Amino acid sequence: MNIRLAFAVVSSACWSAFQHGYNTGVINAPQAVMTEWLHKEALTGTNITLPAKDDPKVTTIWSITVAIYCVGGMIGGVLTGVIADRFGRKGGLLLNNGLVFLAAALEGSSKIANSAELLILGRLLIGVNSGLNAGLAPLYLAEISPVSLRGSIGTVYQLVITITILLSQVLGLEAILGTEYGWPWLLAITALPAAIQCATLPLCPESPKFLLLNKGQELHAQRALNWLRGDVAVHGEMEEMHQEAEKNKVSKKVTFRELVSNRQLRQPLLIALVVMLAQQLSGINAVIFFSTDIFMKANLNESQSQYATLGMGAMNVVMTVISLVLVEIAGRKTLLLTGFSGMLVCSISLCIASLYTDLVWVSYLCIILVILFVVMFAVGPGSIPWFLVTELFNQAARPVASSVAVTVNWTANFIVGLSFLPLSLVLGMNTFIIFAVLQFLFIVFISFKVPETKNRTVEEITAMFRQQM
Ligand code: GLC
Repeated sequence: MNIRLAFAVVSSACWSAFQHGYNTGVINAPQAVMTEWLHKEALTGTNITLPAKDDPKVTTIWSITVAIYCVGGMIGGVLTGVIADRFGRKGGLLLNNGLVFLAAALEGSSKIANSAELLILGRLLIGVNSGLNAGLAPLYLAEISPVSLRGSIGTVYQLVITITILLSQVLGLEAILGTEYGWPWLLAITALPAAIQCATLPLCPESPKFLLLNKGQELHAQRALNWLRGDVAVHGEMEEMHQEAEKNKVSKKVTFRELVSNRQLRQPLLIALVVMLAQQLSGINAVIFFSTDIFMKANLNESQSQYATLGMGAMNVVMTVISLVLVEIAGRKTLLLTGFSGMLVCSISLCIASLYTDLVWVSYLCIILVILFVVMFAVGPGSIPWFLVTELFNQAARPVASSVAVTVNWTANFIVGLSFLPLSLVLGMNTFIIFAVLQFLFIVFISFKVPETKNRTVEEITAMFRQQM
């Protein structure tokens, strides 16, 4: 990988995935101080004699604050296709930063203004931004990567998500910004990566495929490719793009209606959607969002649980780094199957172990199992879905397919986030049985339906689906 390509990857994916990961994790740690503020100052009509955590009005507003982020993500997902085609991949990413500045200003000033509404609106806007990033950044990455590095480069998006979830949890500690006065800063900091992206991404070229296939700008496309490869000899890749351009003339831009009605696209669409559903319905965010709670149920005290959560986040990062290398060696399908199978074993073991948590060693076993669950997720289910979608479709269908897939991902994320707590009140750890059943079904589907895409050009992959027809 040459230095310019690396610069383009960092300028696009890192600062975009930052929004996605950081804002997923950021309101986890300061929950107590923020709900206290809602209780005492921001909301009228709360029952001040009750503690904040037992006040139904505070609980409702807090749940909305948490969940509205995913609603924003769904909206961002829906917008992805239109924005990517209209403004380009790089153009779309750059514009998207406008939402970050607005959201950071709203969230950061909500305390001074004593307004829960500003906080909620800010969370919605940063959600829309994150949903757009989840579609646009993998598109850009897929279109600037050489075939042999497409998987590793695609994994960078997820790697930064895991790093920034961890960062948000560290900064949210009481010793840093998780305090009565610190939390508005904790939320507003998210403007910083946006500013960095605005300064660096303009130095990188637009996606060469977008320039040639969507805009017909041959010379610009070639220059972009020269820049990205650090080489004047890019005939081979230009030739491949020309071949795709020839086909595109026949199959122009694919609309949502065509995507769902065209029989040739049915199979890749089904795969893209199921893999996205599998990522979320595996239950990963039940653990990412509620791990501290889960650890406390396994008999750790509060501060031990918080540190165990940080340990879990660190393991998530480490395993994602390893998967970045493995994905080009073992391939996508093997890593997906290994990851989901490992999660399945952990889920079943957790259900069994949770029956015996009065034994000290079993409660430690539960903690190890929860961490292993996340590690297995990071083997493949975490990173692969984001870029697999971009590999299954050609230029004409890629944006709209990404749009639908990202929207489905955020919708499933929303459903798990909303239903895990109520479910676990009734079922306890047995909630993981539900995840286990789903994981099993996804393993079966992946074994039979998902093709290996490692080292194959998008042309080859789409031709394979045509032949299957
Ligand atoms: C993936 C999921 C996200 C989750 C994260 C955890 O990016 O889409 O919802 O929080 O992995 O690592």
